[in-house]
Amino acid sequence: MTLDARTIYVTALKNTHALELQALQIMERQVERLENYPDMEAALRRHIRETHGQRDRLEEALASLSESPSALKEGFLGFVGNMMAIAHVPAQDEILKNAFANQAFENFEIAAYTSLLTLGEAAGQTAHKAAFTMSLREEEGMAKAVADLVAPTTQRYLDLTLRGESASH
Ligand SMILES: [Fe+2]
Repeated sequence: MTLDARTIYVTALKNTHALELQALQIMERQVERLENYPDMEAALRRHIRETHGQRDRLEEALASLSESPSALKEGFLGFVGNMMAIAHVPAQDEILKNAFANQAFENFEIAAYTSLLTLGEAAGQTAHKAAFTMSLREEEGMAKAVADLVAPTTQRYLDLTLRGESASH
């Protein structure tokens, strides 16, 4: 069977939609456990709001093509999925693993939107180009925000730990 560009684009829309649902789950779980890291908490709360909009844009695009979202295929996240799972094992250095995983996840999403935009173009589906470009910019903004948080988060983790205080989240 030969796949046409539209079918490949629709699959990318569905995968990206499932990815955003996964992103929401990951962030909502994390944000409830960040009492010692208010800057990380604020970044996640802002991006949760953005991600609701990203999810809606994907649902609109799917609806406009008379397609509906589907569940994330097992293993789609691959390496990043494994890393996200590791980040959620309660551990003394949970915050550090989350910081690393967040940076990886946002960069995964940047690649996903870059690919989606390329496929949309190839399929002649440009109606949602502006919307997905906005999503891409938001992911780039969050990727930078979480990257910039790695050093201060690590410093705070170190300070709390050396003072004998709770530092895991
Ligand atoms: Fe994101």
